[in-house]
Amino acid sequence: LILLQHSLLSHGMRGRGEPLHAPHLSDIYANSAIQQQDYSATIWLRSKEKLEHSQQKCIAIFALLCCFAVLVALTFSAVDVWGEDEDGITEENCNRHCRIVLVENIPEDLHLSVDGTTHVPLSTGLNSLLDQAKHSVEVVSPVWNLNSWDQETWPNSDTEGQLLFQRLLNLKTREVKLKIASSLTDSAELQKLTEHGAEVRFVNMSALTRGGLHSNFWVVDRKHVFIGSASMDWRSLSKRKELGVLVYNCSCLAIDLHRVFSFYWQLQNRDYVPSIWSKRVTALYGKDSPVTLYLNDTEVTAYVSTSPDLFCPKDRAKDIDVIQHVMQEAKLFIYISVTDYLPLLTRRYWSPIDEMIRESVVLRGVKVRMLISFWKQTHPLTFNFIMSLKSLCMELANCSLEVKFFSRREQMANSQPGVNHNKYMVTDSAVYIGNHDWVGSEFVYNAGTGLVIKPTQTLKERGATILEQVKAVFERDWHSRYAKTLQASNRTPEEVKSLTDNKEGKETWNESNDPY
Ligand SMILES: *[C@@H]1O[C@H](CO)[C@@H](O)[C@H](O)[C@H]1NC(C)=O
Ligand SMILES: *[C@@H]1O[C@H](CO)[C@@H](O)[C@H](O)[C@H]1NC(C)=O
Ligand SMILES: *[C@@H]1O[C@H](CO)[C@@H](O)[C@H](O)[C@H]1NC(C)=O
Ligand SMILES: *[C@@H]1O[C@H](CO)[C@@H](O)[C@H](O)[C@H]1NC(C)=O
Repeated sequence: LILLQHSLLSHGMRGRGEPLHAPHLSDIYANSAIQQQDYSATIWLRSKEKLEHSQQKCIAIFALLCCFAVLVALTFSAVDVWGEDEDGITEENCNRHCRIVLVENIPEDLHLSVDGTTHVPLSTGLNSLLDQAKHSVEVVSPVWNLNSWDQETWPNSDTEGQLLFQRLLNLKTREVKLKIASSLTDSAELQKLTEHGAEVRFVNMSALTRGGLHSNFWVVDRKHVFIGSASMDWRSLSKRKELGVLVYNCSCLAIDLHRVFSFYWQLQNRDYVPSIWSKRVTALYGKDSPVTLYLNDTEVTAYVSTSPDLFCPKDRAKDIDVIQHVMQEAKLFIYISVTDYLPLLTRRYWSPIDEMIRESVVLRGVKVRMLISFWKQTHPLTFNFIMSLKSLCMELANCSLEVKFFSRREQMANSQPGVNHNKYMVTDSAVYIGNHDWVGSEFVYNAGTGLVIKPTQTLKERGATILEQVKAVFERDWHSRYAKTLQASNRTPEEVKSLTDNKEGKETWNESNDPY
């Protein structure tokens, strides 16, 4: 700054006496020595003039300091200085008259009754989203594995995944921008997509939260969205049971989910989460200020939630708070369908969801049903926590907590049986569709998103909606032959011990045997 003052000053002095021709470079060098002497000799004579200058100087220095401060703030925050080209859609002029479509992937060999509950297949839904895309497709997925498959056990089960991958590669020819945020470092598919014009940004989750970017959603043209359990994995389009929703023509919802995407986008190559955030990534809606939408002409309120806490900039609803809130608002029933249920954070008890289930069942008399997957990676302690929950209702009137395990016993011998990968909750008042299993370390370390939809009218006034559709799906699965009740444990003490010993050796169970 002091150097700057000097040069400002000498420029000011030189400017007065010299003619207006552009100085030659050698002239400047030759002159500079003389000017130095000149400068020191005349400086006291100019003191009066300097005084006048000093006021201007002060202002200049102050301005410089301000610039410097702003620069520092920008460097240490995620504010996007230049911003992206905005398409002018704001909370005021966005579209809230939307269409919602429930999408599912039901493995071919899974025999579920289809009375009135056939839904659009996931692959059809995602392809139709790509059909609609005109400008941009933003995708977040924990996995990019659309092409590989286990040929021996699942012949031909890859085709849907491969087709989808080809369509993503071809987006460029339609001048549609593909943007991907991912925490994967060595994905061949991301590499290939990059070569075909996709913009991929790496989010160093291991540095930020010691977890992974496990969110699963799409934002297309900031108008249409997909959110659900399915990732960009060939299994999600073939042998895994998935559930999600597509919301079309819904810029009001899309711009907020786009902000979640922008949040990840801004984290590129950072190893800390900034404390100052651009307005472009903070939440538009939340639990206390949801957006009002018309989904297939039914009025609902909705909002997006995220996790972990560190990834919830100002006003963004947290997944855990939202799950608790949705449970608290339920008056009659809570139906939960998740792959894994485990109230543990590595080796500690993690209570938020577990205690809310207990409260709902025992203190508020809400009927709770939990459908959990029984598969090769089911943690042995799951059964203990479930038994504990079930024992709550012993000898209590109006207390109902039922648990069933979704299992495909005939395939247990197979190395990779199709699993129920659903992650949602439906109550008499709202539906929550998330990305996480209900496992402590998921919410605490991994990034995920959720969507809450709450009809504003009663069932009688509004007729069947998305809520009833999800409920019907749950009941279909609940009454299917694959849902089995937990048998009272008749394990021998030795077996129990071996299970617990096994668990001791699997301290990082959730990280190392990631179901994704
Ligand atoms: C992620 O961050 C960690 C810790 O800062 C660092 O060791 C690692 O190299 C980073 N990974 C990548 C791919 O940059
Ligand atoms: C979305 O809106 C456009 C134009 O209004 C319409 O052509 C299209 O069919 C709509 N999409 C859906 C899925 O409703
Ligand atoms: C228990 O259920 C019965 C019948 O459903 C109802 O009449 C009664 O009020 C309930 N009791 C409590 C404490 O909720
Ligand atoms: C909404 O409308 C679409 C298309 O008209 C339909 O496919 C979908 O099932 C409807 N969704 C609900 C929840 O009724």
